Parts: sequence; C-alpha cells; structure tokens
Amino acid sequence: MTDMFQVNKVKIIYFSGTGNTAMVAEEFEREFIRRAIPVVMSEISAGNFPSVDDDDLLILMFPVHAFNAPEIVYEWIETINAHDPISAVVISVSAGGSTKPNMACRLSSIRGLERKNCHVYYEEMLVMPSNLVVQTPVGLAIRMLEILPSKVRGIVDDILSGTQLRTDPPLPACILSRTGELEKRGAKLFGKKIRVKNNCKGCGWCERNCPSNNIIMSNGKPLFNGTCLLCLKCFYGCPEKALEPGILKFFVLKDGYDLKSLKKRMEGDKPEPVEELAKGYLWKGVRDYLSE
Ligand SMILES: Cc1cc2nc3c(=O)[nH]c(=O)nc-3n(C[C@H](O)[C@H](O)[C@H](O)COP(=O)(O)O)c2cc1C
Repeated sequence: MTDMFQVNKVKIIYFSGTGNTAMVAEEFEREFIRRAIPVVMSEISAGNFPSVDDDDLLILMFPVHAFNAPEIVYEWIETINAHDPISAVVISVSAGGSTKPNMACRLSSIRGLERKNCHVYYEEMLVMPSNLVVQTPVGLAIRMLEILPSKVRGIVDDILSGTQLRTDPPLPACILSRTGELEKRGAKLFGKKIRVKNNCKGCGWCERNCPSNNIIMSNGKPLFNGTCLLCLKCFYGCPEKALEPGILKFFVLKDGYDLKSLKKRMEGDKPEPVEELAKGYLWKGVRDYLSE
C-alpha cells in the first residue's frame, strides 16, 4: 500500500460487445461518484478512440476474447500518447472466471500499456454471463449480476488505497493467450460469412451499432466486410433476429443473449446454492468467483 496515492479523476475506457463490460463500467462509475470522485466514461469503437490525460487514473475494461483482449483494444492502446506516466488499472470481464486458460488474458494489453508510459498497478477479473457457445444457467447469471456491486466496491477500495495487484500467469496460459492472431483472422472470416435471413427489414440497426464498422447497408440489406471482432452484438441485438453465422454456428447462443431481460429476472428471484447451479469443471472459475 502507498500512503501518498491520490486519485483526483478517473477515466474509464472500455470496449463491450454485448453489454456486460458496459454494465461493469457503469457500476464502477456509480461507485466512484458515490465517493465524490469525478469519472469520465468512454467506449472504444472504430469511430471512437478516446484520449487520456496525464492526470487521469486510467481504468481499461474489456471482455475476454479467446483468452486475450479483443483486437480493437490493442488498436486503441497504440493511439495513447502520454508524455508523463499515467497510473492505470486493467479489468477483464470473462464468462469463465480466473481459470487456468484465462489467466494471461490481460498480460499483452498490460505490456502494451506499459510501452505507452502507463504504470499498471492493479488488474482484476470480473465474471459476467457467457455470450458465446455455452449459455450460463439463468440462476448463475443472476448471481453474477447480484454480486457485481460488492465486487466493484472491493476493487474500488483497493484502487483508491493504491494496492498493488499484478498477476504472474503460468507459461501455458501465456501461450494460449498468444493464439490471438488465429482468433483475429477467424473473426474476420466469421464476419464476412454472416448470413441475412429473409425476415431482415433493412432497419440498419446492425450497421449503426457494429463497433468495428463491419456492416454497411446496401439496397436495404446489410453487407459484411473484413473487420469483424466477433463481438456478437449484431446477432443478439438485431430487432428481427435476422442474422445467422455462415461458419462456426455453435458460437452464437441458440436462445440469444439479452442482459436487459436478465436484469428484470433478478427481481423476485429466489437464490439457489451456487454449488447446485455451478457443477463440474466448466463452471469452476464461476463457482470460485461467486463463493469468494
Ligand atoms: C469471441 C469471443 C471469445 C470469448 N472468449 C472467452 C474466453 O476465452 N474466456 C472466457 O471466460 N470468456 C470468453 N468469452 C465470453 C465473454 O468474455 C463474456 O461473456 C463477456 O462477459 C462478454 O462481455 P461483453 O458483453 O461486454 O462483450 C468470449 C466471448 C466472445 C464473443
């Protein structure tokens, strides 16, 4: 702990595909405001690469994509231009928790920040429902939303007291997280192959909301380029559910992903024991997170 540590203003810079990281960022914003610390929130997208001031405490947040950060986070890091050192915190938001494969998910982004004169003194993982391949059982997803405020409170306590928390991920996790290059190429191909079903009404929601400008409306139908990040926002957000993957169909959750309706279900929900809801190795990281 450092005695002299003082935070005057916070800049939360985040990327979010399907809303989980945005929800986490909003919870942090609430918590800092509660403590009378000014916060500026900025979402990274292809059209918005926010700047950071030397006197900001930078908090970078992103969803874990293939044991790493999404590509656009690295593109944003490249734009940082800091003359004086910037204090920084990195928060990743995963579906699986701090399991062995996820352990190095912040490593490359932290190194990138350090190359840009940012001093990362704290890193942490938060867990939110899965938006890829395997749906998080509703009861568990609700537990994740319920526990979020107290997790954030604890992290903000640490951040403001200058607690140093850096992990030293094991080699296999580091190697796994470096498969990012494959994921990047796979994402681009995945994006090019998205199919439009007949029920598409040409409303342009997907074009307006794609964070990587991968979608352009042409003659009332979306066309897909090669800049997809595989964030899945367009599939789950399309008002007609008119998009389907051309490849890797199992990536997209059959029943979709809708954080707003999950939030509604929190009200009146009767808690079931986490051990009942999160059985087996797949949910080990979630079990640990919820039981800590
Ligand atoms: C392409 C892709 C890859 C993912 N890879 C991982 C992963 O390696 N580990 C993990 O725990 N969750 C993974 N997830 C799940 C997300 O990290 C998780 O659901 C996150 O909360 C989504 O945040 P968002 O709604 O802000 O995009 C992945 C999701 C996507 C779309």
